[in-house]
Amino acid sequence: MVVRPGITLLKHNFLVTTKKIAVVGAGHVGATCSQLLAQKELAQEVILLDIVEGIPQGKGLDQWESAPIEGFDSRVIGANAYEAAENSEVFIVTAGIARKPGMSRDDLLKTNAGVIGSVSREIKRVAPNAIVIVVTNPLDVMAQVALEETEFPRERVIGMAGVLDTARYRSFIALELDVSIEDIQALVLGGHGDTMVPLASYTSVSGIPLSQLLSQDRIDALIERTRKGGGEIVSHLKTGSAYYAPAAAAVQMAEAIVKNKRRILPCAAWLQGEYGMRDLYLGVPCMLGENGIERVIEVELDGEERAALESSAEHVRSTVAALKSLD
Ligand code: NAI
Ligand code: 2OP
Repeated sequence: MVVRPGITLLKHNFLVTTKKIAVVGAGHVGATCSQLLAQKELAQEVILLDIVEGIPQGKGLDQWESAPIEGFDSRVIGANAYEAAENSEVFIVTAGIARKPGMSRDDLLKTNAGVIGSVSREIKRVAPNAIVIVVTNPLDVMAQVALEETEFPRERVIGMAGVLDTARYRSFIALELDVSIEDIQALVLGGHGDTMVPLASYTSVSGIPLSQLLSQDRIDALIERTRKGGGEIVSHLKTGSAYYAPAAAAVQMAEAIVKNKRRILPCAAWLQGEYGMRDLYLGVPCMLGENGIERVIEVELDGEERAALESSAEHVRSTVAALKSLD
């Protein structure tokens, strides 16, 4: 194989042309993202940024020191200044404060809106062509703040929630049926929160509809557990929220983008008429590729599913309104 200058040939014979992916926020989710990005060699450099001096540098160096053991060549570089992330192709934004027990995601609203506003302006300054994956909560509203502050097209500002929520739903189905996780296909739409909409009608096990394998009562119980999935982890951890599965979800989205995989994943997208809705972020199936969101896919919903999606959208709209009223 001929390797062109500027292109690094990494293992698995996969040509990785992506030079830099940046992660903003070197806390639980962000640091787990940078380790996964490096281990998967999704970029030549993984830049880990945080406002606190020393944290990204220390974690970045620690992760790089795992490279000889794990066998990866992606450099992990920690920094406080955004210049280190200049021209990064993808930013995963996890900066902010996380949920504590007794706190709703919406309690995070004002603090995190300020953080996402300043982070977005920095991204626009150093990497005007970047694709931004927002993770910070409340997710759907923070994605809107990032869209407004960066003024990037909607294809390049994407929220991470559906991949995580769907993963939780799939993981609970696998436990219930005691089958391989690999065979479970599912779809969770809507906002990230208790109003999310797990779609039993789009859930199957190797093509077998879930309704042929489980009673409606058991399906309802799994859906309820999925809706409360984030809170379940918070109630165990007590001092923070989930990060292994959230980081894996954000990295799967980054991978779909940098490898132009054109994967169909549930993402929070800025709707412009899809599902009869406009000017809000909501979780819907999207095709992710090198341009970010290549397509928003509209699936058929029955009356109950559509009502649940509308109600989830209403919750997102009311949180946006609450934020605007704080301005
Ligand atoms: P964490 O508290 O461990 O890390 C947050 C990091 O952000 C800290 O290191 C902090 O110093 C940094 N930070 C704060 N302000 C900053 C700024 N202006 N610039 C750069 N860095 C800044 O929190 P964790 O657990 O990593 O969660 C991060 C966010 O992700 C939270 O808002 C959490 O609710 C959200 N989250 C969202 C999920 C989703 O499905 N969308 C899933 C899991 C977490
Ligand atoms: C979660 O779902 C806290 O949003 C975060 O785990």
